[in-house]
Amino acid sequence: MPGTRSKTNAKVIASKLEDATIESIAKYIQQNKVKNIVVMTGAGISTAAGIPDFRSKNTGLYDNLQKFDLPYAEAIFDIDYFQERPEPFYALAKELYPGKYLPTKTHYFIRLLHDKNMLLRNFTQNIDTLERICGLDEDRIVEAHGSFASASCIQCDEKADMEEIRSQILLSKIPRCLACKSLIKPDITFFGESLPKRFFKRLVDFDEADLLIVIGTSLQVQPFAALIDNVPEHTPRLLINKDLAGVHHSPHHGFDFKWKYGKKRDSVYLGDCDEGIEKLAELLGWKNELDRLYEKETKKLKERWATEKVLEQEQEELEKLELTEEKPDKEIDQLAEELEKRLKVPSDKE
Ligand code: OAD
Repeated sequence: MPGTRSKTNAKVIASKLEDATIESIAKYIQQNKVKNIVVMTGAGISTAAGIPDFRSKNTGLYDNLQKFDLPYAEAIFDIDYFQERPEPFYALAKELYPGKYLPTKTHYFIRLLHDKNMLLRNFTQNIDTLERICGLDEDRIVEAHGSFASASCIQCDEKADMEEIRSQILLSKIPRCLACKSLIKPDITFFGESLPKRFFKRLVDFDEADLLIVIGTSLQVQPFAALIDNVPEHTPRLLINKDLAGVHHSPHHGFDFKWKYGKKRDSVYLGDCDEGIEKLAELLGWKNELDRLYEKETKKLKERWATEKVLEQEQEELEKLELTEEKPDKEIDQLAEELEKRLKVPSDKE
């Protein structure tokens, strides 16, 4: 059975790579009937969709928050700061709200792994829900930093109605709990909050991995970053990223692409992740399949969203009329507009 627990699988099939390249990983996959792949992802896999990452110089979100007048960039995701001043987060939420960004080739490669019963789990740090949107089963995904898929009251934990939250956020309003009037926040893990229970529950997956693929992350945020060391010690690991990340700082911690410690299992593709993924797909003989999946699903999503947009615009007009006394929060509107300009995210009007 694909993706099933088999304690010994990783140990039995793990073999040394020929060299630290993506070609070696493709050979390893083909020759060893790899079937329990764990994929760890970060913001780099969504930049091609138009969503900025966090730490890239100039283009990253943290370099573009000057207008928010934050004490430090990460404050936008700090739970204490949010309680004092929720407007910056809501401006960002308005800009990044799922629904206008399409999954990338990399997302569809992960979906293809799933369709081929080779994906054990996708641990993602991303909150953009593109994994869900590309059709990956919820069961295959671990949203390590939560996501926009649900929201709750920061005081009484009451779950919010997502349709309502979405419409409030898009109308530049700050959603409040119906029960206690405190702030509602999408269930994104802020600094100072614990990670979702599911993250800890699924850590066992790393013991079973016969391959680890890490894509589009700077591996700077813990505890996520340290997970690369949770796979069995001979399980091959592939990093696909623009920059080196997670490089070793001791024999048992981090990647060792130079094979200094003799394990011969780490490999790296430095460059754009969609290009790296296309190369891997080509090496595996899956390129046409990946292209077809990407094109078919993208077309389907575009058509569905176009229909939904027309309906939503009508609904929004109605709501605006009903809520004339409750004006949109001007600060959120201005901050969101400024952010849209700086980050060049696709606008709703396009
Ligand atoms: P970062 O912005 O820290 O890292 C993104 C990485 O992806 C960088 O190494 C980029 O060079 C690389 N990258 C960007 N575009 C790429 C592309 N097209 N192809 C290949 N590589 C590309 O983002 P994360 O590591 O995901 O927390 O950040 C981790 C966490 O920090 C986030 O989850 C977020 C943030 O604070 C929350 O949202 C709570």
